[in-house]
Amino acid sequence: MNLVPVIAIDGPSASGKGTVAHGVAEALGFHYLDSGALYRLTALAAGRRGLSWDDEVAVAGVAAALDARFDGETIVLDGADVSSAIRSEDIGVGASRVAALPAVRAALLQRQRGYARMPGLVADGRDMGSVVFPEAPLKVFLTASAAVRAARRYQQLIGRGEAADLAAITADLETRDARDRARSVSPLAQQADALLLDTDGLGIAEAVDQVLAWWRVKAQA
Ligand code: DC
Repeated sequence: MNLVPVIAIDGPSASGKGTVAHGVAEALGFHYLDSGALYRLTALAAGRRGLSWDDEVAVAGVAAALDARFDGETIVLDGADVSSAIRSEDIGVGASRVAALPAVRAALLQRQRGYARMPGLVADGRDMGSVVFPEAPLKVFLTASAAVRAARRYQQLIGRGEAADLAAITADLETRDARDRARSVSPLAQQADALLLDTDGLGIAEAVDQVLAWWRVKAQA
């Protein structure tokens, strides 16, 4: 039984869950776990070692031995800042591929649970509420339509000065979502006990406020 309060926020790519989860963690003074970053780090580390993203045994070995840490906004791998490198579209695809491998997921499980520390944790990903923190008192399934998510990702890339093609982004998001939903282990799905937060018409602050309002109800129960 985990006594550390955990807010689990799951949802598809580019739904805004990272930004919302971060905002909720900040408002409550909780720790924050970006679990997708661990899959991205695994894909990056495996690629740098010349491994194929489909080599389950070897990639799981990389995941188990990942020399990575979160230092505020900075993500460090093998001693170097990889905060931007893990956000590339290529590594996003690699993360989705390695995340479909059961041995990789198993290798990262305890590490993710280790982030649950007092006074609490906000964790975002695909299986926070179902597998990693099944006893989380608050589970949120945060989503938005594919068109809205593609438009947000497009704006993000343009904002970073990168080339972006809306049609390609939409197709890529759909392929990645399909893989995340169809895999046999920990598929992306709304849990029966997760509250649905559709952010199509919501700004970040409103979405954060909604999660905080749900949390106040849970915390009083
Ligand atoms: O949230 P993100 O885009 O950074 O996640 C990258 C990939 O990792 C995505 O394809 C889904 C996968 N992932 C996962 O399978 N389970 C998680 N808890 C988090 C991410």
